[in-house]
Amino acid sequence: MKVLVCGGAGYIGSHLIRELLSLPNYEIVILDNLSQGHSGSIPAGLAFEKVDVRDKQKLEQVFSKHQPDAVMHFCAAISVEESVVDPLRYYDNNVIGTIYLLQTMNKYKVKYFIFSSTAAIFGNPEIIPLTDDASTKPINPYGDTKLTVEKILGWSENAYGIKYVCLRYFNACGAHESGEIGEDHDPETHLIPLVLQVVLGKREHIKIYGNDYDTRDGTCIRDYIHVTDLATAHIKALEYLVRENKSQHFNLGSGEGYSVNEVINAAREVTEHPIPAIVHPRRKGDPPVLIAGSIRAENILGWTRKYDSIKKIKKVFVYLKINNAALPAIQAEIIHKNTII
Ligand code: UFG
Repeated sequence: MKVLVCGGAGYIGSHLIRELLSLPNYEIVILDNLSQGHSGSIPAGLAFEKVDVRDKQKLEQVFSKHQPDAVMHFCAAISVEESVVDPLRYYDNNVIGTIYLLQTMNKYKVKYFIFSSTAAIFGNPEIIPLTDDASTKPINPYGDTKLTVEKILGWSENAYGIKYVCLRYFNACGAHESGEIGEDHDPETHLIPLVLQVVLGKREHIKIYGNDYDTRDGTCIRDYIHVTDLATAHIKALEYLVRENKSQHFNLGSGEGYSVNEVINAAREVTEHPIPAIVHPRRKGDPPVLIAGSIRAENILGWTRKYDSIKKIKKVFVYLKINNAALPAIQAEIIHKNTII
């Protein structure tokens, strides 16, 4: 099976590639515009096309050249806050880019599509943990772009027979066990890598966006799920599509949430760095609590989380090895602590 991995040089895509490489049956082609992805994360010898999915002509050339059997689509702008400030960029990148991809798939008769969806489609959930069929009401443009694509997929299946799986990620975290790849966005907006930047002396303090939410300590609560577990879910999803030929959506979470304060405290404990924190006003578009059950993924895909111990948020930091070369000291410390936590 030949898989075209769009966004394969990015955070989650690069971890998926590592998992695919460990299996015998997959041929991999990576497509990435390298706007956020890192060329250094692409394993030597793999086919790589530096293409933006919105460049229809080049996209067609990639399909014509490689003739993939399936597409996994990780390319997207991903900042909730930025999407509120510049929504059109988000619809352009996330929706229009996916439309071009689906049109090209249809033209080249590619039948299977795995889509990186998000917890942000749920908005402010009424019931926690979110179930797989919880109602979707995004409260920021980012979430709406992903929900729009989910709807487009439903109609595309109906019209063109493209079978798809939507994987609704909760908060991806952690890094590959090898330490070779991890989370590294520019600019970085995610809590955990920002906390680590404080530890590394790259920023003076961490901002806490709001401590007046209706949560146990007033800060937002998120469900952190290890990036390698997210990666394995994609392979299970593709196996499922080929086996069942049925479209479906799945939540990918751990069923447990941690507050912003708890994440920062865990980092303090593991790194023994004071990590100064300053409370700021709420960030636009942030829901107070997002936690998911993943019952459907467990039952139908047979997905299990290898990093279940990540339930203890301290382990998130233990697994973090972002950008190996730049972080030897902190990594050594983190790895050392791993033996005593
Ligand atoms: N936060 C801070 N300070 C920071 C950064 C973040 O307090 O410097 C807070 C945020 O306000 C939020 C929490 O930490 O309450 C997590 O924020 P992230 O930016 O790390 O992640 P988000 O929950 O905003 O979004 C992430 C992904 C989305 C996905 C969502 C699903 O970026 O793509 O998780 O829960 F939709």
